[in-house]
Amino acid sequence: MPIGKDIARAQEALEAGLLVAIPTETVYGLAANALDPMAVASIFRAKNRPEFDPLIVHASSAGAARAFVTEWPDWAEALANAFWPGPLTLLLPRGPMIPDLVTSGLPRVALRVPRHPLTLELLQRLDFPLAAPSANPFGYVSPTLPEHVAAQLGEQVAYILDGAGAEVGIESTIMGMEEGVLTVYRLGGLSLEAIREVVGDVALRSHSSSHPAAPGMLHSHYAPLKPFYVGDIPEMLARHGQAGSATLSFSKAYEGQRNEVLSPEGDDRIAAAQLFARMRALDADPSVERILAELVPEDGLGRAINDRLRRAAVKRTHT
Ligand code: TXA
Ligand code: MG
Repeated sequence: MPIGKDIARAQEALEAGLLVAIPTETVYGLAANALDPMAVASIFRAKNRPEFDPLIVHASSAGAARAFVTEWPDWAEALANAFWPGPLTLLLPRGPMIPDLVTSGLPRVALRVPRHPLTLELLQRLDFPLAAPSANPFGYVSPTLPEHVAAQLGEQVAYILDGAGAEVGIESTIMGMEEGVLTVYRLGGLSLEAIREVVGDVALRSHSSSHPAAPGMLHSHYAPLKPFYVGDIPEMLARHGQAGSATLSFSKAYEGQRNEVLSPEGDDRIAAAQLFARMRALDADPSVERILAELVPEDGLGRAINDRLRRAAVKRTHT
């Protein structure tokens, strides 16, 4: 398995139009040259991702990102200044260099400057931006460790750039302007509290399942393969029994069956950083038949964590 910290090797593969898994502070991305439609097409194939679900374009700086849009409004300047590099994606009018496939034909392009030092260095060396969705098969839990990528998409990538564990652990917050109102389309690694401090109140539109064109909003998503339930843990244990059950709790430990505690100290940031790795561990444990999870307090990154837990609990209509 080609995996390591060799930025030159990652660069070479990307320049040849190949796929490279890149570390970001949110989750690992499955990256290719965003300006090369053939390379972008191979991302969709590797992930088995429908082409109506557009990709985020990663740039080395706000200055570099501006080359890919036709407008750079004041709100974008304010948010980029405050939070880039970081876990925020902005939807802006797409410039002519961005291929149709990247935006699935939509009028806006999603842009972000990620914070991981290896990936920032890589982006600085490249003379094109990187299109990168999370590096997981479509609909599954996002990867927060290089091993997660290796296990599922290792065959499909030319190289995995090893940036260790993702610091934030959940995907970026996605924002844009909708009819004059700044709108959050996907709750993520940047909290609403932090955003409000910079731009005031924002609208939230992340709970529809009928508009898959809006970001990260497919109803069943981030989902383990095993049955996943969200509710009151003691009640669910009484209903399903302890045998074959595993529990995924916020800060309290539940004895008697396999249990993963996201953050014993009750810290939303630690819980976010742990969430996907714990979900994967329970999904992979052969003694576990079902996962019983509880929601976390609905503030800070807790909102985004709860969004992921709820989507994981939605029954799949396929597979
Ligand atoms: O933290 C992240 O955002 C990670 C890392 C790798 O950067 N990426 C990520 O990508 O989560 P992905 O593809 O798994 O989720 C991106 C979401 C998708 O749900 C997609 O629908 C939405 O962003 N999106 C991308 N481009 C869009 C566009 N032009 N218009 C509307 N939604 C868009
Ligand atoms: Mg994803």
